[in-house]
Amino acid sequence: MRLIFLGPPGAGKGTQSQMLAGRLGIPQVSTGDILRQAVANKTELGALAKSYMDSGGLVPDEVIVGIVSERIKSVDCSAGYILDGFPRTVRQAEKLDEALRSNGSIIDAVLNIVVDEEQLVSRLSGRRVCSECQRAFHLETNPPRKPDVCDGCGSQLVVRADDESATVRKRLEVYRTQTAPLVSYYERQSLLRNIEGVGEISEISARIDSALSR
Ligand code: AP5
Repeated sequence: MRLIFLGPPGAGKGTQSQMLAGRLGIPQVSTGDILRQAVANKTELGALAKSYMDSGGLVPDEVIVGIVSERIKSVDCSAGYILDGFPRTVRQAEKLDEALRSNGSIIDAVLNIVVDEEQLVSRLSGRRVCSECQRAFHLETNPPRKPDVCDGCGSQLVVRADDESATVRKRLEVYRTQTAPLVSYYERQSLLRNIEGVGEISEISARIDSALSR
């Protein structure tokens, strides 16, 4: 399976794609996680990406396309993968289509998680992420078993730098103008599955499984 998770910031793409990757036994490829890791490791990519991420803007298409094209050629992606946070512009989607065509593969489905804006803001303001494995928690709706400690790897939970309210507003605007057009892009290719993204995390997972089995 080659899948794409689409949706605004805070829709639950990371939460659901990580869980689905576990169920399907294929890797989750999150461009946000790759970039945050590069920033933390102070690499050349991290230095370039940081200013875009801190301001809530998008890292240039050519940088991201290069990273993803290489990543999906890895051996662990040979049986499939889940793209989380990529593509994010029509240009990125076109480049992904080109790369897939050149190696004879296709995307099987695009899961578009739909959540209203008020809910997104509250999700992002209460989000805590693991400083090591990047797993997301929420202070109220998805709390860790021990305060500030990751259930998965036991590392410390932190607030993501771009979850500050002014940056969240900017990210939502960037989503509306640059990423939302992908909904009709994938609708035209008959790949889009809309997933109602409000409800318990387990309910959303069940909706995703049901959309994939159709
Ligand atoms: P990225 O990391 O991809 O961020 P994003 O798309 O803004 O999405 P988020 O990670 O904020 O939200 P999510 O949908 O994954 O929600 P989550 O599961 O965490 O990108 C960050 C930055 O990197 C970008 O701004 C850009 O600068 C750069 N970048 C990345 N990709 C790029 C690309 N392709 N091109 C250019 N630049 C790129 O859930 C959110 C919260 O809600 C959590 O607290 C969670 O516990 C909680 N939650 C989840 N589900 C539920 C539920 N059902 N009910 C209640 N709470 C829930």
